[in-house]
Amino acid sequence: MADYRNLFDLTDRTALVVGAGSGIGRSSAMCLAQFGAHVVCADVQQKAAESVSEEIRADGGAAEAVPLDMRETDQVRGVLGRIRPPDVLVSTPGVNVRKPLIEYTDEEYDRVVDLNLKGTFRLVREVARSMSENSGGSIIVFSSIRSQVVEPGQGVYAATKSGVILMIRALAAELADRGVRANAIAPGVVDTPLTAQIKQQPDWYGAYADKTMLRRWARPEEIAGAVLYLASDASSYTTGSVMFVDGGWTAADGRFDPFAG
Ligand SMILES: NC(=O)c1ccc[n+]([C@@H]2O[C@H](COP(=O)([O-])OP(=O)(O)OC[C@H]3O[C@@H](n4cnc5c(N)ncnc54)[C@H](O)[C@@H]3O)[C@@H](O)[C@H]2O)c1
Repeated sequence: MADYRNLFDLTDRTALVVGAGSGIGRSSAMCLAQFGAHVVCADVQQKAAESVSEEIRADGGAAEAVPLDMRETDQVRGVLGRIRPPDVLVSTPGVNVRKPLIEYTDEEYDRVVDLNLKGTFRLVREVARSMSENSGGSIIVFSSIRSQVVEPGQGVYAATKSGVILMIRALAAELADRGVRANAIAPGVVDTPLTAQIKQQPDWYGAYADKTMLRRWARPEEIAGAVLYLASDASSYTTGSVMFVDGGWTAADGRFDPFAG
């Protein structure tokens, strides 16, 4: 019989979690560490990365913190030169400027694309090279439900979130024979500092909760299971895929229930 008990075991694996200082990245780092990975907590906010790394070590896990701005190729290379070659990459950083397209400035467009699409590209390219020269690995990037469905003000963000999916699919096809798997996670609405602005507006926050089948937002810990699955051998036959963790948001196109009441 296959040994199913160890499917999620990450002992002796190194996981580079970029964006580990906050939100989904923070939960991902903690979860991967609890399943045995040595976690490199990377973030442009060095103090935040250090604090998550300390929390992991206080919990009995293995972690270190590194400062990293993933928009800078030299910094990505510098980090890869200092750490053990990663078996797992989790890339979470993303930014959104919510604004109608006809009001978007070139600077705002560049800011969103430079991190969400080009930043992901720079990071993934360097890590994928390392993985393909070593013993393979699993690359996990963050897309969004906005890769599929939009609302006013999401045009540029949605384009980047759609773009990373196709980029990761091409990568999966290119590196499958070198043992590198690449997948994307598309969350719905998750309570993190990124969405704090929405939480302050009860109408907006409530409307998003109602758009899900579960009628609520996710906690960051609820995304970690998908990260763990894709990081581990449990997903050894999963590559080039998109995993929606959205409380049912994208599965239903309306809120009217003809059988209610
Ligand atoms: N929160 C949501 O509701 C939601 C929904 C759908 C998709 N997503 C996506 O999930 C991902 C994670 O979102 P989150 O809510 O955890 O965000 P967050 O803002 O809480 O955390 C992002 C982290 O990335 C770091 N970071 C920002 N720029 C960086 C850079 N250049 N280099 C390195 N680190 C950098 C930040 O310091 C922060 O610690 C994003 O890509 C986001 O688009 C989030």
